[in-house]
Amino acid sequence: MCGIVAYIGKKDAYPIIVKGLKRLEYRGYDSAGIALFNDDLHMYKKKGKVNDLTSFVKGKNLEGKVGIGHTRWATHGEPNDVNAHPHTCQNGRLTLIHNGIIENYATIKEALIKDGHSFQSDTDTEVLVHLIGAIQEKDNLPLEEAVRIALSQVVGAYAIVVLDKENPTQLVAARKASPLVVGIGKDEFFLASDATPLVGYTDQVVYLNDEEIAIVNANGTFEIKTIDNEVQTPYIQHLNMNIEKLEKGDYEYFMLKEIYEQPNTIADCMRGRLNAAAGWIRVGGIEKENVKEKMLNAKRFIMAACGTSWHAALIGEYLFEELARIPVEVEYASELRYRNPIINKDDVVIALSQSGETADTLAALEMAKEKGALIYGIVNSVGSSIARITDSGSYIHAGPEIGVASTKAFTGQVTALTLMAINMGYKRGTIPKSYYHQLLRGLEEIPQKVQEALECNDQIEKLAAKFINTKHTLYLGRGYNFPIALEGALKLKEISYIHAEGYPAAEMKHGPIALIDENMPVVVIATNKSAYEKIVSNIQEVKARKGIVIAIVTKGDQEIRKIADYTIEIPDTEEPLTPLLSVIPLQLLSYHIALIRGCNVDQPRNLAKSVTVE
Ligand code: AGP
Ligand code: GLU
Repeated sequence: MCGIVAYIGKKDAYPIIVKGLKRLEYRGYDSAGIALFNDDLHMYKKKGKVNDLTSFVKGKNLEGKVGIGHTRWATHGEPNDVNAHPHTCQNGRLTLIHNGIIENYATIKEALIKDGHSFQSDTDTEVLVHLIGAIQEKDNLPLEEAVRIALSQVVGAYAIVVLDKENPTQLVAARKASPLVVGIGKDEFFLASDATPLVGYTDQVVYLNDEEIAIVNANGTFEIKTIDNEVQTPYIQHLNMNIEKLEKGDYEYFMLKEIYEQPNTIADCMRGRLNAAAGWIRVGGIEKENVKEKMLNAKRFIMAACGTSWHAALIGEYLFEELARIPVEVEYASELRYRNPIINKDDVVIALSQSGETADTLAALEMAKEKGALIYGIVNSVGSSIARITDSGSYIHAGPEIGVASTKAFTGQVTALTLMAINMGYKRGTIPKSYYHQLLRGLEEIPQKVQEALECNDQIEKLAAKFINTKHTLYLGRGYNFPIALEGALKLKEISYIHAEGYPAAEMKHGPIALIDENMPVVVIATNKSAYEKIVSNIQEVKARKGIVIAIVTKGDQEIRKIADYTIEIPDTEEPLTPLLSVIPLQLLSYHIALIRGCNVDQPRNLAKSVTVE
């Protein structure tokens, strides 16, 4: 999620807030806005970058010693000026900025509309500020009390700052699952999503905990409370960091940061969509009135994507065919769009795209639409072109992915596909009830198991050093792990510039085995259950020709350890969920090899993050 910066004190708020928003720029976003209070409230919001906002406000009233600013990474409502933050309540008294997702915003919005509220934007955030305003107005409550009561009714993730124009000497902030830092200056306070905007102004900070509220006043006093109104003793820490380090947190590259974000981003993708204990999966995109029948009774899914997203689509093929028994064809979007394919009205075309702007994927979708198919998008960037032209879709909520090599977006796409396949399999009666519940439990454990899989990082860092001068590498996998072999090979190619190929392990004997010699490292993803003996034989075939085998195995595997040169363990899980774990060591392997080779991991040569050209 994106960026929050707020200020109250004796200095002009505008320059502090804008500088802070620019320092949060590394988080990626789609729009920005600011509200300042001087004699009255002045609010400016703009789609685009912070520079678009600063150009827009030139010559406008930018006075004020108190203000709130925001960079948005849209989750509800496409990126445009109206949906940009801040948002105001019904009577215009309160102004709020928010990072996160209000999952039950629709229910709250419905109740507020019944009470006569009208909304300007499509965001979940505007609903929250209306709720706080309504609670405050009803009993003329102090702002902090109205915030506490409102947040006790909210389900989701939030970091918020609220300004009451009838009491502009105070700001109220709160957080849950989205970070918020309070900077304590001399008779001045700073509030921000992370410490980046505070550096250079103060080194005294309080990191808010979940469900805590901060009330900061222009007279230099402040208070920290829980949303249950228990006063907390603030734990003031000394901030000791420089700007350069901050941008990527403690990580040298965004790619590593994004690899390590995956336990959270996978959890975010499942948030509000999965409850194993209650036994349900809900995927809004396939339950919408205008699509649910066609999705459930589709004759065929055609999945179109490029690059890593195409690998996720391949996993989707295995998932939908095994769990929902729906025939699937996976197409490179660039091929599909030019070969005048047969696409019928009872087909569903599913596009996968992190950016939602890939030209080939967009063009393939437009063609499918013309041919009358239902088009569905699995996208990370809310309000992107692909998200806008599809009949329905599922956002993966992975947050901005800055590294060119896609990692958290890939596992987010696979998570979304898994949720869809299980949900549709259950509805179509193609998954036994017991297995359905087993899959739900398994899926709910995945974020923790990804965390465990990341523990192999040190082992992989050491292993990477042995292969930095490799010229060619093979990646082999079977079943659900065949697309992972392709993905592992692409990761290595695109960031370390070492040639690598992914193959179905059984294909070795049809040609590639001629490549095997003592100089050829072969990465074998050998976690399979159903084809375990076969993959063991494939490893032996490689060893018989002096190949070097790096095996990714299920934790506790003793057999492959005896024959492979190197063994990396990942936690056990249900077979359809394996890709979410087996890809982790391959992401780390490519990262460390590229790092040691001195490659620019985040911006590899010749590549762009989003290929918006054909
Ligand atoms: C993946 O690591 C690459 N950066 C690239 O293959 C990417 O997956 C492809 O360009 C598709 O991008 P999209 O998901 O934004 O459509
Ligand atoms: N869910 C809010 C929106 O879509 C906030 C998104 C963010 O964290 O930037 O506007």
